[in-house]
Amino acid sequence: MKSFYLALAVATSIAQANPVVKRAVTDAEILNYALTLEHLEATFYAEGLKNFTRDDFVNAGYADPFYDNLRTVASDEKTHVSFLTSALEAAGASAVAACTYDFPVTGVNSFITVANILEGVGVSAYLGAAASIMNKEYLTDAGSILTVEARHSSYLRAVAGEVPFAQPFDNPLDFDEVYTIASPFIASCPSTNPTLPVKAFPSLTATSEGTILAGSEVSLATGPGFTASGPVYAAFITVTGPVWVPVTPKDGGYSVKIPTGIAGQSYLVLTSSKDKVSDDTVLAGPAVIEIGAKNGRLSTECTTGSNSTSSGEAGEAGSSGKAGSSGQAGSSGQAGSSGEAGSSGEASSSGETSSSGEAGSSGQAGSSGQAGSSGSGVLFTGAASNVQPTFALLTAIGVMVFL
Ligand SMILES: *[C@@H]1O[C@H](CO)[C@@H](O)[C@H](O)[C@H]1NC(C)=O
Ligand SMILES: *[C@@H]1O[C@H](CO)[C@@H](O)[C@H](O)[C@H]1NC(C)=O
Repeated sequence: MKSFYLALAVATSIAQANPVVKRAVTDAEILNYALTLEHLEATFYAEGLKNFTRDDFVNAGYADPFYDNLRTVASDEKTHVSFLTSALEAAGASAVAACTYDFPVTGVNSFITVANILEGVGVSAYLGAAASIMNKEYLTDAGSILTVEARHSSYLRAVAGEVPFAQPFDNPLDFDEVYTIASPFIASCPSTNPTLPVKAFPSLTATSEGTILAGSEVSLATGPGFTASGPVYAAFITVTGPVWVPVTPKDGGYSVKIPTGIAGQSYLVLTSSKDKVSDDTVLAGPAVIEIGAKNGRLSTECTTGSNSTSSGEAGEAGSSGKAGSSGQAGSSGQAGSSGEAGSSGEASSSGETSSSGEAGSSGQAGSSGQAGSSGSGVLFTGAASNVQPTFALLTAIGVMVFL
C-alpha cells in the first residue's frame, strides 16, 4: 500500500514536473537517434578491444572475467546497431550509418571512465525518449535495450568502484540534452545520414577537488556559444523534476554546491528560468557529474564465483583497478581494504553494499571518503577537457548537420 502511494506520488510529481512537451518527432527519428548512440557505443567498444588486450586490463587491475564481459558488452552494442538498422529498414526509413568518433581515451582507466559515462547516458537517453515513442512495439523494443544498457552501466560502475545503482530512479534526458553530451565524441558523420531534429547546447564542464559528495563545491566552465542575458540558474535533471541549486559566478564560470539526495551519474544544466528546465530555458549543459564515494575496489568477485581464492584475486584487482582509475596515491589506502575484502570473500560484498549506502546519503561518505579520494571527478574532468576542442570544432561547423 505504502509503495503504491509512493508510486502515485512520484507519478504525480513527474507529471507536474514534465508538462507535455510538444515535439514533432517521429518514431523513425527516435529510432535513428537511438541508433546514433548505439553506433557510437559499438564503435567505442570495438576500438577499445582493438586498443587493449586482456592482459592490458588484467595488468590495470580489471581481473578476469572482466575482459570476457567487456566483449559481451561490445557484442550487445553491435547487436543493438543491427537490430535498430533492421527495424528502420523494415519500416521503410533510412537508417543512419556510423560516424567517425573521437574518444578521449589514453589508457585502460580512461576507457573505463568513458564507458561508464556512455552507458549511463544511454540509459538516460532511452528513458527520456520513451514517452515520445508512439508505436507500442517500438516501446517494448526500446525498453528491452534500455534494461540491458542499465545492466552494462551497473556492472561497469561496480568495476570502477562506483555504487552500481546509486539511486532509486534513473535520470531521463531529452534529445538535445543527450546530444549535448554525445556530440563531443562525434567528429563527423556521412552526409548521406538523415538529419535528425536535435541540437547541442553549449557545453558545461564540471571540475572539483577530489570525490564529489553532498556539500562539495563544483566549478562549472561553459563552452563556446554560451551567453546569459539575465540571471543564471542551475538544476540537476531528475525524473521527479529539476533539483535547483544556488549558483554563483566564479572565475569566469560558475560554482555550485552539491545538494543532498543526488547520487551517481548526474546531470546539471544552467538555465535562464528559475523553475523550468526545457529546451527553451537551458543555457548550457548538461554537465556529467559523478556524485558519491567510491567503494575502493572492483566487484568482479561477484561474477568470479564464490571460491575464496577467486574472491581474493578480485579483491586485489580492485585495489589496483582503483589505483589506476584515479591514478592517485590515495588509493593505496583502499588497497588495504580491498585486500581485506578479498580474503573475506562473500562478506566483502556486503561490506560494499553498506559503503554504497553511505555514498548515496553522502553524510557518512566523508568518513569512508578517503575511499573515493579524487576519483571520478578528476578523471571525468580530464575526459571532458580533452573533448572540448572537438566540441568547439563541431560548434564551428554547426552540429545540427551531424545526424
Ligand atoms: C583507440 O586508440 C586510438 C589510437 O590511440 C585512439 O585514438 C582511440 O581514441 C582509442 N579508442 C578507444 C575507444 O580506446
Ligand atoms: C576454487 O579454488 C580451487 C583451489 O584454489 C581451484 O582449484 C578452483 O578452480 C576454484 N574454483 C573456482 C570456481 O574458481
